[in-house]
Amino acid sequence: MGERTRTSSAVAAATVTLSRAGVVSARADAEFLAAAVLAVPRGRLALTDGFTGAALARFEELVARRATREPLQHLIGSAAFRYLELAVGPGVFVPRPETELLAGWGIDEARRVAGPATVVDLCTGSGAIALAVANEVPSARVVAVESSPAALAWLRRNATERAAAGDRAIEVVEADVTDPELLDGLTGRVDVLLCNPPYVPDGTPVPPEVADHDPAQAVFGGPDGLVVIRPVIMRAAELLRPGGVVGIEHDDTHAGAVPALLAASGHFGDIASQRDLTDRPRFATARRNP
Ligand SMILES: C[S@@+](CC[C@H](N)C(=O)[O-])C[C@H]1O[C@@H](n2cnc3c(N)ncnc32)[C@H](O)[C@@H]1O
Repeated sequence: MGERTRTSSAVAAATVTLSRAGVVSARADAEFLAAAVLAVPRGRLALTDGFTGAALARFEELVARRATREPLQHLIGSAAFRYLELAVGPGVFVPRPETELLAGWGIDEARRVAGPATVVDLCTGSGAIALAVANEVPSARVVAVESSPAALAWLRRNATERAAAGDRAIEVVEADVTDPELLDGLTGRVDVLLCNPPYVPDGTPVPPEVADHDPAQAVFGGPDGLVVIRPVIMRAAELLRPGGVVGIEHDDTHAGAVPALLAASGHFGDIASQRDLTDRPRFATARRNP
């Protein structure tokens, strides 16, 4: 066996490099990159024999790229979302842990439906929410809508991989969610409608990972951040069956605005603002009136 560099030493050096570059989760990111290079789960890094020369060079290259604030998930090629690992890279929004809450809420609602639920995921990106529902509610019919050709390529790849792994295939629809005739054939038939739209008000400062690597149309939602949310609420009112539910993720400055838009439409009751584990308002939910 050639000379090896201890894993712990390489990870410690990488942590310093990443901290200096302003990466908040420097230690965790260094460990994830090391685990990817050594092809082991992160929890087993301590049991590895260390880096060969070639593996160390590869690790240092990835650390250098992460130090330029390239997203961790782009470097390792995947993002964890609930029970899934989804392929991500340039052109698609990296799914965030906080969106797992909206997906979980939708999954609980879909399970409550008598008979197979019809679930729609608008602005599906990589397919994170739609594929999580298909994975956890096998009886559900899941329809995923996205307009970006680059995101659609990642979505189709993830959808194909999940179907090959045994999940029920989701239906991919290339469409603009602001189209007043969106999913016309499903009018009045949707049980659960979920949406994590672009919602950051234009001009809001965002970290380099977001500014330089998430597609702008995935992040920014117009001057007030509500440009996609407004038509989505109007369309949700038409697509949902009476008693069907909607959940929309929003900016933490919109805890009042999104519930108010749902109320103003006149079609929804049970309107609630849902908070995440750090008590930040994350998504709004409502039920279609009879
Ligand atoms: C914040 S990302 C959410 C992606 C995914 N649902 C998730 O939670 O990770 C928003 C997505 O909406 C898509 N999008 C933006 N405007 C859209 C529109 N008018 N019609 C359809 N998709 C749109 C973007 O391309 C992006 O993939």
